[in-house]
Amino acid sequence: MTCTPVSLLVTGGAGFIGSNFIHSYMANNPLCMVTNLDCLTYAGNLKNLTAVEENPHYRFVKGDIGDAALVAEILASRRIDAVVHFAAESHVDRSITGPELFVRTNVLGTQVLLEESRKHWQSGVVPDFRFLQISTDEVYGSLGDTGYFTEETPLAANSPYSASKAGADLLVRAYHETFGLPTLNTRCSNNYGPYHFPEKLIPLLIHNIINEKPLPVYGDGLNVRDWLHVRDHAVAIETVLKKAVPGSVYNVGGNNEWKNIDIVNLVCDLLDGRLGRPEGKNRALISFVKDRPGHDRRYAIDASRLTSDLGWSPSYTFEEGIAETIDWYLAHQEWVADVTSGAYLEYYQVQYNRGAA
Ligand code: NAD
Ligand code: TYD
Repeated sequence: MTCTPVSLLVTGGAGFIGSNFIHSYMANNPLCMVTNLDCLTYAGNLKNLTAVEENPHYRFVKGDIGDAALVAEILASRRIDAVVHFAAESHVDRSITGPELFVRTNVLGTQVLLEESRKHWQSGVVPDFRFLQISTDEVYGSLGDTGYFTEETPLAANSPYSASKAGADLLVRAYHETFGLPTLNTRCSNNYGPYHFPEKLIPLLIHNIINEKPLPVYGDGLNVRDWLHVRDHAVAIETVLKKAVPGSVYNVGGNNEWKNIDIVNLVCDLLDGRLGRPEGKNRALISFVKDRPGHDRRYAIDASRLTSDLGWSPSYTFEEGIAETIDWYLAHQEWVADVTSGAYLEYYQVQYNRGAA
């Protein structure tokens, strides 16, 4: 069974993954209407969407997912037949210094979207409706040296961020089980690529290396993450949206595990050449700092269900993806300057001042 939604509500479309999804989805589905609801927090930037802003099939609405009246109005007036829900507070470090906002946006905001979606769907104006919750592998907690998260792994979130995402995932499940709302849920590993706000590891490294600033490595640097190019994630989301059976959950991952310190060294070395610096120069910027509290040791995702059921697999190799990403940041220094002005710098200082390891 496949369905092709014609009027999408994308929440958080001005952020990293949401904006990449909008570009990818609109290119693949030129007749589709896309409404992007985003309140433009520090992480949202309309410059991520300049390529579509004049497109008559795209509309931006500045607003909060927690505003029930606004959400209801959009769902009805645009005859929305699919909600793709990215909007969230997404940074673990910020969730440690301020958990309350994470609960408000990620849990309560999701509940408002679900409730308005339920009413809209039950009104019967759209024959085929789906609600896709974009989530993270972090809801499963932390792994030891071996093993993988599957869709059956119990939720065991360890940070306020991942706990708020797990809460939202369970509400999505509850709306399906209790009300029959046609929901879908994807849980993806760490993404990298264009439009990534430079507080997350890879864009922070690129930004700091260019500016010859210290590269903070938390703890011993041996934590492991599984990295997926954001465009591969966007295609996975489109695949699940169109092909998955309501009520299903799919893991998304790149089968591409890296220790943090190895990523740091790789990005340093790739930028030595591009910046015309002597070999090894950038590695001298590495600075081990105090560990993140509750720092998950290893994430590794088994995405075989998505491949076997729906035929998705990643198209980027990490070698080409990371090289392309570094070149994108070098070519988009104006974008980086824009998003890193103001609050970002203050925040960065707070992080870095956590002190040496
Ligand atoms: P992001 O922080 O770059 O973007 C979040 C967007 O949501 C921003 O544009 C922000 O303005 C918007 N937003 C925040 N609160 C809002 C509200 N109350 N109302 C409307 N808009 C609001 O995040 P991202 O990295 O693009 O992540 C998107 C989603 O994917 C999140 O749900 C995240 O949990 C999930 N995810 C991220 C990763 C990753 O590696 N970044 C991996 C797996 C899953
Ligand atoms: P991050 O990009 O914040 O993603 P997440 O915590 O959601 O996985 O961090 C990726 C890994 O890199 C994580 O193990 C924490 C580590 N890290 C650093 O060592 N230094 C940094 O400055 C940042 C931002 C992250």
